Amino acid sequence: MSTTKREIGEQHAPAHASHGGHGHPEAPYAPVFGPRRAELDELLTRYPTKMAVLLPALWMVQEERGWVSSEAMAEVAGLLDLTPAYVKGVVSFYTMYHQHPVAKHFIQVCTTSPCNVCGAEDVVNALLKHTGCEELGVQSPDGRFQVIEVECLGACGFNTPLMVNEKFIESVTVESVPALLASLG
Ligand code: FES
Repeated sequence: MSTTKREIGEQHAPAHASHGGHGHPEAPYAPVFGPRRAELDELLTRYPTKMAVLLPALWMVQEERGWVSSEAMAEVAGLLDLTPAYVKGVVSFYTMYHQHPVAKHFIQVCTTSPCNVCGAEDVVNALLKHTGCEELGVQSPDGRFQVIEVECLGACGFNTPLMVNEKFIESVTVESVPALLASLG
């Protein structure tokens, strides 16, 4: 589990950047578990309590919307007999859940000491430059990229490791950054 290393910059949230989001910010909230209710019901048969389904339910929300909004937290809370405050506490504890819309390609780079002494900071700077993000946590102007630093990704022997959304990529160098970004589309 990675941990956000620096306070990320102000979140820019263009509607197009919420990959899978629920469209215009003023549009009425569309429940996630209308279309995916059967999946949730099936999960409920496999766990001992409703509360135990919270993490996978939140993951389904994020798969569907790209992030977990307050409305989605309230929806999940209602379905699992929890309070919205409890769900919010869980969402804010785990950095894998996004509390704001994120870019299409959300890039997390390990800059913990072992990776840092091997050049992770240079890789971060190359990513910021070639994506046009310019600043950690801020989306690129086209909404395609967002870069943050995180703690150890568990791949200390493969500097510099990073994650693009859920995909793990090892041995990234300053030189390989342009090709990597081009491959993401
Ligand atoms: S210190 Fe970077 S992956 Fe472990």
